[in-house]
Amino acid sequence: MDSIDYKEAKFKFLGIRKHFFIDVTYHITVFDEIVVMGRTADCQNPKYRIKLSLDTKINWEIIKSRKELEYFEIVYQKKKKIFHAQAKDLLKFKQLLAGKIMFEGIGDLFQPLFQVGKGSSAKVYSARNVLDNRVYAVKAIQKSFLKLSENGSGMQAFQSEIQILKTLSQYEQNFLVLSEIYEGDSTFYLVTSYLEGLSLSVELEKAKTLPQQRLPVQSIKMIMKKLFTNLKILHSLKIIHRDLKPDNLMFARKNDYSSLVLVDFGLATLELVDQYLFPKCGTPGYVAPEVLSSRRDQKYNSKVDIFSAGCIFYKLLTGQSLFQGQNFDEVLRSNRHCHINLELPIDGNYITDQSLDLLRKMLNTNGQIRISAIQALQHPFIDSTNQFSTQIIQTTGQLGIKNTIYQLNLAEFESKYNSQNEIGDEQNYKINDLKRYSFITEVQQQMSLSAKRSSGQFSGTFYQKDPLSALRTLKLYTETSQPLKNSSHSQHSVSQF
Ligand SMILES: Nc1ncnc2c1ncn2[C@@H]1O[C@H](COP(=O)(O)OP(=O)(O)O)[C@@H](O)[C@H]1O
Ligand SMILES: [Mg+2]
Repeated sequence: MDSIDYKEAKFKFLGIRKHFFIDVTYHITVFDEIVVMGRTADCQNPKYRIKLSLDTKINWEIIKSRKELEYFEIVYQKKKKIFHAQAKDLLKFKQLLAGKIMFEGIGDLFQPLFQVGKGSSAKVYSARNVLDNRVYAVKAIQKSFLKLSENGSGMQAFQSEIQILKTLSQYEQNFLVLSEIYEGDSTFYLVTSYLEGLSLSVELEKAKTLPQQRLPVQSIKMIMKKLFTNLKILHSLKIIHRDLKPDNLMFARKNDYSSLVLVDFGLATLELVDQYLFPKCGTPGYVAPEVLSSRRDQKYNSKVDIFSAGCIFYKLLTGQSLFQGQNFDEVLRSNRHCHINLELPIDGNYITDQSLDLLRKMLNTNGQIRISAIQALQHPFIDSTNQFSTQIIQTTGQLGIKNTIYQLNLAEFESKYNSQNEIGDEQNYKINDLKRYSFITEVQQQMSLSAKRSSGQFSGTFYQKDPLSALRTLKLYTETSQPLKNSSHSQHSVSQF
């Protein structure tokens, strides 16, 4: 066995195993990839060696009245082992292991507040961490959902989502920060930073009540600039999101469009893998043509995200969806045909030579020559906002106050929004798990029917490939048949995870 270099240790503390007659003290040492626990300090033959990987589980127990950690429990060689230690040491230990191994005991450590969102694979709650008293977002993914896929690709996708979220966590202005991962009996929980703002889809829905039925051009510029900034980072890390759409763009802060972050990396992939998991995936209405036409042995690249961003840009500028349809089948067909008409009348405000030029470059059906995020940031439509948006970011960040021009726009929106009826519950919030699964089966059946109905060219592979991508269409299905409702405001109390 390799010798242990204690100079590499990240943290050392004492743990106690309480036995009937006598307590035994262990010297616990944390390294990057392993934790060792031995009877003497810095020993070369520790009794316990615990690999830091998601296969390893650790259960935390707290003293509820004092809101501090009391002990941790591991299963070692099929036996439960409990280690007591000082609360402050346990806390540091827990912080060092966060995201590296699977935690258990979320019910005691987090107090759920509200359901703040629901996607195609998960429900998202806000929850207070009882140890640090801060609010986090908890994305709860049913294990049965991941296992729906026969060859285990659902689980693989979940692990990939974790790996990518971990990589992106260092860029907290641009992506979610993953803090901990928990496993319950039937659910996995990803604990991330909590975003106080709304999603772009809710903002777009609200904007329909404005006279122009769209967000102001300056806001659109700011949103696109931040989107390209985030994509520039993502693509330089060789990660493709593959599911960009207004639901998956969120604002970290209320009333601040420069706080846009990308969420939901459930379909994201590393560009460098030999073969993509779920090569044909995404949400109809936002999918690049090369994704839909790709064969198993072909690989597309990060330009597919630019196309999806182009569909979002089109919606921001025109207030319309690029690929329209009354129902699921029609949107799907329109996206597959990919006949794009960009002969939009110049209105001097939203549709200008500049905005149209950028839109055309983003929606180029040839991925090879489609504009990149880096190039888009230099485009005059975006670049002309340089001074403006830098000022906003600095003002908000440094002084903790909002830019005045921006605040005025928002004040205008808010008074209009508030005069509207409160946006009600999203239809699919009401679907309980049992109904949800039967609903999912129903959607899958419909999809296989629609695939059968389709002509050869439109073979159903995109939607039937795997249950995960099939489920991801659920959202679109409900969105096209029901107007999108506010998700962040329709908060549902929950009492326990
Ligand atoms: N960190 C967060 N803070 C607040 N709301 C969030 C957060 N993450 C997600 N949401 C909300 O929950 C919804 C679903 O989350 P998402 O990760 O997209 O799940 P899914 O994979 O099921 O689509 C999002 O569209 C958003 O409204
Ligand atoms: Mg989502």
